Amino acid sequence: MNNSVVSGHGSAVSDAVLDFDGVAFSYAGTPPTPVLRDVTITIRRGEYVTLVGPSGSGKSTFLNIVGLLDRASAGRYLLAGRDTSGLSDDERTALRGRSIGFVFQAFHLMPHRSAVENVELAMLYNGTDPSERRARARDTLRRVGLGHRLNSLPTRLSGGERQRVAIARAMVNQPDLLLCDEPTGNLDSTTARAVLELIDELHSLGLTIIVITHDPAVASRGNRQLSILDGILTDHNTTGDHDTTTRVPT
Ligand SMILES: Nc1ncnc2c1ncn2[C@@H]1O[C@H](COP(=O)(O)OP(=O)(O)OP(=O)(O)O)[C@@H](O)[C@H]1O
Ligand SMILES: [Mg+2]
Repeated sequence: MNNSVVSGHGSAVSDAVLDFDGVAFSYAGTPPTPVLRDVTITIRRGEYVTLVGPSGSGKSTFLNIVGLLDRASAGRYLLAGRDTSGLSDDERTALRGRSIGFVFQAFHLMPHRSAVENVELAMLYNGTDPSERRARARDTLRRVGLGHRLNSLPTRLSGGERQRVAIARAMVNQPDLLLCDEPTGNLDSTTARAVLELIDELHSLGLTIIVITHDPAVASRGNRQLSILDGILTDHNTTGDHDTTTRVPT
């Protein structure tokens, strides 16, 4: 976890989980396809950020760069104060495993592994003692309300339960940042509400969260709303507590 947090009157940088300065991204090709243009934004520890935008506007691309799955074509990205641009692929993978949890619309669970095994897999390459993995996976599944489904295969779980397994998997390494790409996109409204309540709860425990959504009701749950159009990111809270460039006294 970040040990550079300055309590009380921290500077704009010291409690930043994510700091993008002029980040751009293009897909290779002739000509290249520009997707993100000159994105400058700081997200601080404990924020709950939602991101909306039309299909193809660059939301998943943004999240993939934040999650170190793609590399920015230009600009600087600091994750918990660490400059990611000079890192090797192995270093990026290690940092991702330690710092980032992902939740996707389609769950992305291993179909032939039980709930507890799916969560354990997230600890495979991060140095967690093998004897500890099972206990931590169980404990995290209990925290998301799945203590009674530890040994179930994903195919035997409801959509909401599958997404809870995915959230447990994302949480088990105590990441700096939880990234959710349309986490309720495959769920009915009642199940979606339960998953959103779980995300609210994780936020209230101090986790920093970014949620991509098409649903204005989901977007309004965050305490900071962003939108993206043609690769341009707009922050709708720039005059309040979440000004991206200046520190507002607290
Ligand atoms: N592998 C790729 N190669 C080239 N272009 C791509 C590739 N992946 C995505 N794109 C393009 O990049 C743009 C942004 O895609 P992205 O997936 O970030 O959109 P999105 O906002 O997440 O859309 P959706 O709401 O449909 O998920 C789109 O125009 C898309 O066609
Ligand atoms: Mg997308």
